[in-house]
Amino acid sequence: MQWEACWLPQRDPPCTLSTPLQIAHWELNQEGIAFQLEARENWGDRYEIRQHEQGGYLIGGNTGLLYGAYRAMECKRLGLAYPQGEQTPDYTLRMLNHWDNVDGTIERGYAGQSLFFREGHFQYDAARLRAYARLLASVGINVICINNVNVTLAAQALLDERFLPELAAIAELFAPFGIRLLVAADFAMPLQYDLPTADPMDEQVAAWWRNRVELVYRYVPNLCGFLIKADSEGRPGPHTYGRNHAQGANLLAEALEPYGGILVWRCFVYNCRQDWRDILTDRPKAAYEHYAPLDGCFAHNVILQIKHGPFDFQVREPPSPLLLAMPRTRKALELQLTQEYTGQQIDLYAMQGMWHEIFEDVPGQSMDAVAAVANIGSDVNWTGHPFAQVNLFAYGCTAWNPTLSFETVTDRWLRLTYNLEEDAHAILRRMLLTSRAIYEGYTAPLGLCWMVNPGHHYGPNPMGYEYDRWGTYHRADRYAVGIDRTSKGTGFTDQYPTRLRERYNNRDSCPESLLLFFHRLPYGYVMKDGRTLVQRIDEDHRQAVQEVEAMRESLRELQGKLPTWVFDSAWDRMQCQVQNAKEWRDVICDFFHRLSGFPHENQL
Ligand code: GCU
Repeated sequence: MQWEACWLPQRDPPCTLSTPLQIAHWELNQEGIAFQLEARENWGDRYEIRQHEQGGYLIGGNTGLLYGAYRAMECKRLGLAYPQGEQTPDYTLRMLNHWDNVDGTIERGYAGQSLFFREGHFQYDAARLRAYARLLASVGINVICINNVNVTLAAQALLDERFLPELAAIAELFAPFGIRLLVAADFAMPLQYDLPTADPMDEQVAAWWRNRVELVYRYVPNLCGFLIKADSEGRPGPHTYGRNHAQGANLLAEALEPYGGILVWRCFVYNCRQDWRDILTDRPKAAYEHYAPLDGCFAHNVILQIKHGPFDFQVREPPSPLLLAMPRTRKALELQLTQEYTGQQIDLYAMQGMWHEIFEDVPGQSMDAVAAVANIGSDVNWTGHPFAQVNLFAYGCTAWNPTLSFETVTDRWLRLTYNLEEDAHAILRRMLLTSRAIYEGYTAPLGLCWMVNPGHHYGPNPMGYEYDRWGTYHRADRYAVGIDRTSKGTGFTDQYPTRLRERYNNRDSCPESLLLFFHRLPYGYVMKDGRTLVQRIDEDHRQAVQEVEAMRESLRELQGKLPTWVFDSAWDRMQCQVQNAKEWRDVICDFFHRLSGFPHENQL
């Protein structure tokens, strides 16, 4: 085998197994669990486990048989009782987006190369892909987009007749595991096929898409649909032709409709050519401004995919107001497992707690689906940092049942993966549960975003994006820092329902972790605990570095308890994390002391 273990025992289901029922059967047999399987039509992904009249257990379901089987295996290994009654996922579509390029690289990937592509072609290890499909199915993920939302010219070929047989082969490989494919498509693709325009209101263009979709479904009849990033960060889209997002999305949705396909349309749209001198344009307002007026205009098979925060996967953001708007539109919440801004799978960062905070403010019912950018690659341990696997596991569990607690899921993952003695288990558990707060403690303070190094986004650079075109400013000067995004400022808070608007508008009710996201404050501003803002930034950063150092000592205790390859890999990364944390501390503290002129005993 070329890869290393994780929460599932390694096994190779024979390629001859071609349905969820057969896979479920095989898995249970391998595990030595006696279950009867009962196929039930129209059960979708749900399943039921119950005691059989003749003794033993029965799992009933359709694709859900697979999820029931994996759950039964997990219960057996953890010594838990089987779940009672019908088990239904909260979200019908539980999607994973790969940002894989056809040259084999992965945009924002920190775990090696693509599992699907090399040098402009499909190139993969089928056994490894099956292992991957099995891993995803075991946590209930049922849709994957295999290519980057930034679709290059080379990647447009995925929907070309030359490549469709290979796309079909991948779709077939994933199908027995209940997983269907999405393909990220380029809105302007008709232009590559000699059409003079890609205008969504042009009948020729509509006919071109209908034909293309017909061709694609001839090869891949179980395709889930297309994913589109349009009019965003240089991607083509309907705006080029003076049309709106609904007109653009509906064009493709109509073509997909006859095949039951869906169109996932991303809402990550903003003015990416902003002039930093322009203080009226506030980037977090963009998605809502573009989309909210279009509520009710999208076809029924369009799903708008909305990043969890209004910016771009920063360490701390409020929930996107768009998630709470557009009641007549289907929406998907988009999360990012790949740790672009959260430590790049070098620094430890278990993120499930963040999702719970989102669900607290954004009721699950306001979304139809969930999606997450994958943190997977060709590395032997799948995720680069061996402990980053917990985020993929937790994502699957959350997409099925968002109420499962961070503690429960972390425990489950730890026991299934390492099955450590109690003391070692407790150490690693604590490291994971506290990792997010610690990371946040040494990076951009109190909801202030964009203090990372431009481009690669690792390490501190408080002025790195300050004069750039991306609308990512904190506007720190010698008096104050942050942007007033309240109703009296840029008006961003007006996009929220009253409850949240009031909470964020008011400095006293605004959570401290988001204070500088919503408010512009002088350095001498007195925080709830009586310390000044600048003192608080300074001390938080120093404390976070001490916590990382303590975490390194905790990890040291796990030497000899974790498998050697796991320990070594985590240890090397931890050494880098300590350096990274110190760098952040020194740069951030120095930046604010120099700027504010506030003297401090810790000044360099
Ligand atoms: C971030 C990321 C890009 C990505 C974009 C997106 O900005 O840095 O690499 O293309 O998000 O979500 O589309």
